[in-house]
Amino acid sequence: MARVVVIGATGHIGTYLVPRLVRLGHEVVAVTRGTSKPYLPDPAWAQVEFITLDRDTLERQGTFGSTIANLQGDVVIDNICFTLDSARQLVEALKGNVQHFLHIGTIWTHGHSEVVPTPEDVTKRPFGDYGIQKAAIEAYLLELARREGFPATIIHPGHIVGQGWAPLNPAGHFDLSAFSTIARGDTLELPNFGMETVHHIHADDIAALLILAMTHWSVAVGEAFHAVSPGALTLRHYASAMYRYFGHEPALSFAPWDDWKSRQIEANANATWEHVVRSPNCSIEKGKRLLGYAPRSSLAAVEDALGWLIANDRIKA
Ligand SMILES: NC(=O)c1ccc[n+]([C@@H]2O[C@H](COP(=O)([O-])OP(=O)(O)OC[C@H]3O[C@@H](n4cnc5c(N)ncnc54)[C@H](OP(=O)(O)O)[C@@H]3O)[C@@H](O)[C@H]2O)c1
Repeated sequence: MARVVVIGATGHIGTYLVPRLVRLGHEVVAVTRGTSKPYLPDPAWAQVEFITLDRDTLERQGTFGSTIANLQGDVVIDNICFTLDSARQLVEALKGNVQHFLHIGTIWTHGHSEVVPTPEDVTKRPFGDYGIQKAAIEAYLLELARREGFPATIIHPGHIVGQGWAPLNPAGHFDLSAFSTIARGDTLELPNFGMETVHHIHADDIAALLILAMTHWSVAVGEAFHAVSPGALTLRHYASAMYRYFGHEPALSFAPWDDWKSRQIEANANATWEHVVRSPNCSIEKGKRLLGYAPRSSLAAVEDALGWLIANDRIKA
């Protein structure tokens, strides 16, 4: 059993990961600022050691890496690294002091989808600061693994879904009004032909993949894996399935992007743009082959989130 330090332990991924680690008998150290609570209660949290710190403050002081190294984790899982400088500070301190380092990246390290489903090892052409920085972190970690044997694995999630927060909806944004429209059986308008794609993943399936990578250490080190469902969804199919989930026949209309955008609030239009312009559709063949990864479908993941939202009166079904 290992001592596992989870940086950013109480968010979407940590909510499912930490109880799983505890139940497997690992000693878990949860690093957060102490402001967020896990989305779901679980008795396993009583067995967790909490360390309260602000990564940004310690990074500015140059002490974040050494602080984490001093926690003496056999395994360190970094959920909240967004810049190459941030990764460097941590990894420099962990070199020689950790058996396995798992970094959470993103499928946005791929820019626009090219040949789909996209495997992990294609040439990456990210755009936008977030994807560019995450791709730089991945390249740095893989090079370090190759050159110096640093035991890094990179896990790239899709759109994270779970109980307690709003999933990316069939209109490509996070506003729950899209689900409410569908639940009432009213018409939902989609941009273009609704043929652009989104690629969800249940947070619990990310947790499962992280643990599979830990248990298949020798094949996982020096590798990156997509953490997505077995298949991306077109917005059109996603929306139609949601109508059926709520007991209606699909009632969709379509409009060219500029037209559609003119009827949305800016935040929703921007969120949809970020998703459809990439239209992710990623392969999990590598994770299946090397690790035995078997996540649930996108619709099953979304339906789990919807069940929670309905039970908590966030969507009027
Ligand atoms: N959301 C998505 O759909 C999506 C998709 C692809 C990839 N990702 C990747 O997933 C990762 C995020 O994982 P998540 O969604 O599980 O995270 P999350 O829900 O945003 O939770 C963040 C966690 O980190 C802690 N935290 C935040 N800022 C901190 C700081 N300055 N110092 C110490 N702790 C801090 C939070 O607790 P406190 O608030 O108590 O500090 C919380 O435990 C990121 O690397 C992101 O790029 C996300």
